[in-house]
Formats: sequence, structure tokens, C-alpha cells
Amino acid sequence: PAVVEPQSDAMAEPVFAPSNIALCKYWGKRDAELNLPVNSSLSISLAHLGTKTQLSVAEKDEVWLNGNQLAADDKFAVKVIRYIDLFRGDNSQAVKVETENNIPTAAGLASSASGFAALMLAINQFYGLNFEPQVLSAFARMGSGSASRSLYHGFVEWQMGYRDNGMDSFAMPLEHSWPDLRVGLVKVSTAEKAVDSRSGMNRTVDTAHLYQSWPLQAAADLEKLHQAIANKNFTLLGETAEQNALSMHATMIASWPPLLYWQPDSVAAMQAIWQLRASGTEVYFTMDAGPNLKLLFSAANEAAVKQQFPAMEVVCPFT
Ligand code: PMV
Repeated sequence: PAVVEPQSDAMAEPVFAPSNIALCKYWGKRDAELNLPVNSSLSISLAHLGTKTQLSVAEKDEVWLNGNQLAADDKFAVKVIRYIDLFRGDNSQAVKVETENNIPTAAGLASSASGFAALMLAINQFYGLNFEPQVLSAFARMGSGSASRSLYHGFVEWQMGYRDNGMDSFAMPLEHSWPDLRVGLVKVSTAEKAVDSRSGMNRTVDTAHLYQSWPLQAAADLEKLHQAIANKNFTLLGETAEQNALSMHATMIASWPPLLYWQPDSVAAMQAIWQLRASGTEVYFTMDAGPNLKLLFSAANEAAVKQQFPAMEVVCPFT
């Protein structure tokens, strides 16, 4: 993009982007540099849970996370400054980046999706870029794939696109709302994972023959999710999301060296969910590249699910 002057400091407002949970997962890149996915994905945003970010003029580049200044060589700080460099070009004005996650650390949720979406929005505002939503989403994608979907609330589809430059690989919101839908965050562990999603994806694509079936699974699931959302068919939504997550994890487990993000407590939680379903409470789960579970259920079943998972944080994505 063209080099532009920063807007006056007084004009900068913190911007917010929600975190999101994929119901049909993004797993595998066809272009590692541009973060172009092998498959399209579909998520639900977590309403008020996410990241707030603000840029302002500074003497030297600074990155602050949840009120603490990060060391210049901190991994996250380096990634943030490198990302800003993509947009400021030859403009040498130093910036202060203040970013805050209100995602409860206890929920064990990754924040890179909302983090890069909020950063892109803050950059857009600070440098007065006035990018179209689709361009914002495509650029957020380059920070972290799932960030492309955090530009919107509600159900969001990230279309994989076909072009080599990636400008047709961005997310769009779906129009449907589903006020009764609840997402429960079940924490198993908040320890930093040993293998991040980028390396996990690459390992899976490079070493798991099982991965060959993944694009077919994802395409079929995307279709089912569209149908489920259009008809408010909760059973179809939950079954599809759970099977999609387990299929993704199957490809990880089939990698070499094997990649298993689950802990014994993750499996115990899965079994508790299957038990709840068998006894008539309709609840499903999905999991990302980590040990924690995200539950899907209807408002009417909230009390029953909470009884099984008392520490669970409940999100209403459509309020
Ligand atoms: O956006 P990344 O690079 O952190 O990858 C996200 C991968 C999953 O969370 C496992 C799936 C998804 O679609 O969010």
C-alpha cells in the first residue's frame, strides 16, 4: 500500500475485534507466506470477548500487552512490528501499540485471531488507509489465518479463494442470526502449547497421508453448516462441528512426529459430553490446536450443561 502520514494522535480510538471459534476448521496452507488456506472455513464470533487495540505516535516502537510493555525482542512484539512495517513502508514514524485481550485467560482461548483483526483495524484507522472490509480481512489473514474471520460478529465464512495473490481469500459475514445459540468455553489447560498452529499445520500437510481426505471433509461440512444455519437445525450444526473438529485432530494424530493436543482431561470432557447427549441433553464440542473444548448448546440446555461443567464460561454470540 501507499505510504501515508499517520493521523493526528487525538483521532486514534481503540478498536475492537471479537475472537472466533471455527465450526468448519481452517487446517493447512496452500501458500505459507500469504496464509492462503487449503479449504474454506466457517466460524462464530464470541461477541464481547476479543481484543482492543490502539496505535499512537511514539519516540520509538513500543508494544504493550494488557498494560505491560513487552521487550523489543519479545516474539509477539516482533510479529506486531513486522506486521505494521507492511503498511508504513518508508514512513519511519515510531508507534506505540497498546493491545488488550478481555478473553479470560482461564478460558484457554488463543487470541491471535482477534489480535490481528484488531491490529489491522487500528492500522487502517491510524494511517487513514480506508481499506474496504474485504481488503481488511485479506490483510488480517496475513497476520493469522483465523484473523480474517474476526472482522465480523456472528457467523462468518472465510472463502479460500483461488488467486495466487490472495486478494480473493477473505471472510464475509453470513446474514443469519441465532439468538438461542450458546458457546461454552471449557478450560483444560492454559499452558502455552508446545507446537503452534502454523508448525502443526505444516507438519500435518507434509507428513500425514490422512490429510488428503481433509479438503473433502471440510467441503462437505461447509455445505452442511450452511444448511444447518439457514434452517436453524441445531443437531446438524452440532454434529457437523464436532465431526469436523475430530477429523482435523485425526489428521494431526496421523502426522509424524505425532501431534496430539489433547490431555487426559480433554478426553474426559469429551466422554462427559457424549454421556450428556446419551441422556438427552443436546450438547456438542469443538476443539482447536490445544487441549480446551468449546461447547455448543441451546439456551434451554444451559443449566444442564453448566451442572456438568460448573467452571465453563458461557458466551451468547448474538446478543
Ligand atoms: O489462525 P491460525 O494460524 O492460528 O490457525 C487457526 C487454526 C485453528 O484454530 C485450529 C482452526 C481455525 O479455523 O480457527
